[in-house]
Amino acid sequence: MEKIVSLCKRRGFVFAGSEIYGGLGGIYDLGPLGVELAENIKKAWWKKVVYERDDVFGLDSSILMNKKVWHASGHVESFADPLVECKNCHSRFRQDMLPKSKSCPTCGKNDWTPSRMFNLMFKTHIGPVEDEASETFLRPETAQGIFVNFGNVVDTMRVKLPFGIAQTGKGFRNEITTGNFLFRVREFEMMELEYFTYPKQAEKDFEYWQKERMDWYLSLGLKKENLRFREHGEIERAHYAVRSVDIEYNWPFMDWGELEGIANRTDYDLKAHSKVSGKDLSYFDEETKKRIVPYVIEPSAGVGRIMLALLIEAYDEDGERVVLRLDPKLAPIKVAVFPLLANKPELVKKARSIYQDLKSNLQYPIIWDDRGNIGKRYYSQDEIGTPFAVTVDFDTLKDNSVTIRDRDSMKQERVSINKVKYFLRQRLF
Ligand code: GAP
Repeated sequence: MEKIVSLCKRRGFVFAGSEIYGGLGGIYDLGPLGVELAENIKKAWWKKVVYERDDVFGLDSSILMNKKVWHASGHVESFADPLVECKNCHSRFRQDMLPKSKSCPTCGKNDWTPSRMFNLMFKTHIGPVEDEASETFLRPETAQGIFVNFGNVVDTMRVKLPFGIAQTGKGFRNEITTGNFLFRVREFEMMELEYFTYPKQAEKDFEYWQKERMDWYLSLGLKKENLRFREHGEIERAHYAVRSVDIEYNWPFMDWGELEGIANRTDYDLKAHSKVSGKDLSYFDEETKKRIVPYVIEPSAGVGRIMLALLIEAYDEDGERVVLRLDPKLAPIKVAVFPLLANKPELVKKARSIYQDLKSNLQYPIIWDDRGNIGKRYYSQDEIGTPFAVTVDFDTLKDNSVTIRDRDSMKQERVSINKVKYFLRQRLF
């Protein structure tokens, strides 16, 4: 983990939030490479969950919502964790996360206040007056934006049950204890699908989505032996769920832990919003000519946790080099272009023209590097997972071909310049 955290900082994947002011607990910023990796994860999710299907629609609802949403959804009352305080040093912890010995991780004493429930939602105010009427919350899940727009999507998209609404976006939780780098933070990007279905079909669809989601993680390159399902016990389940199964990853810092949660939320949310808003959120079923309130199966994942799992799995030390063996579709930079020597204008000119051509014609990040020797440049790209490097050498000037080096095998192939784009397109997507 230390090596990954250091690589993330050194190579521009992840920075501590507000770093020059000493940071801010549980807040991280994505650097130039991190933002590309996160985008690629979201794109892969969207492709799988929206574009490849006929029955899922996208949405982008606002982070700020009417506070009645959070009362209706049960979050004001129930979205809370048990908090205890050490009477000796006043450090605060989530009770269920204390070590088995129950001694304070800060001072070692074992003298606690009784636990109280601490609501994880961040409060804020809308408009210039900070009173109770203007109070609302930063969303702790994107899902509620989907539920309150259920009627709008039904009315505009000619949907037929079962169907889903998907969205990605920020979620905020004032976690009592943060830690393990990106694993538990206070602001994070979520990818949530609410799949509305017939109540009698919900259990079958739950099983279906478990398999779909597990297959997606395998398709990204996470190893089967590092993934498993874990069913939640009754006490552990969120207030809205009758069934929850986590897809867990075998983290190096905590053994197994949640990567994604899949929940059967029943008709809980739609009914709750219908009741409080007074708006009918039912669906008219053409076949039975009856109105029903659908059940919801919800696969919900955090981009940061997926990013961390992918980095852990991709990290490899191979002889002298560190290599991130990321799936090419996820790699932040797809191609690097080098002139063999930086002080030979004819090589630089040729390499520049290839670089410009690739940049204008391919829709992904391509970078230029002419510093140091070629071996160092290859290793530098390996460390950030760039799948291919294109080198222009003296032969290029004679035979109009370049060397393309593969990150994983380190094999070099001679490719005619007019075939480079084709070569890359074949291998990158
Ligand atoms: N709408 C359902 C929901 O919010 P969740 O299991 O609480 O379910 C979904 O959260 C996913 O969001 C988790 O599986 C995890 O990947 C991510 N997540 C939750 N809390 C997080 C935190 N504090 N830091 C980073 N990721 C988090």
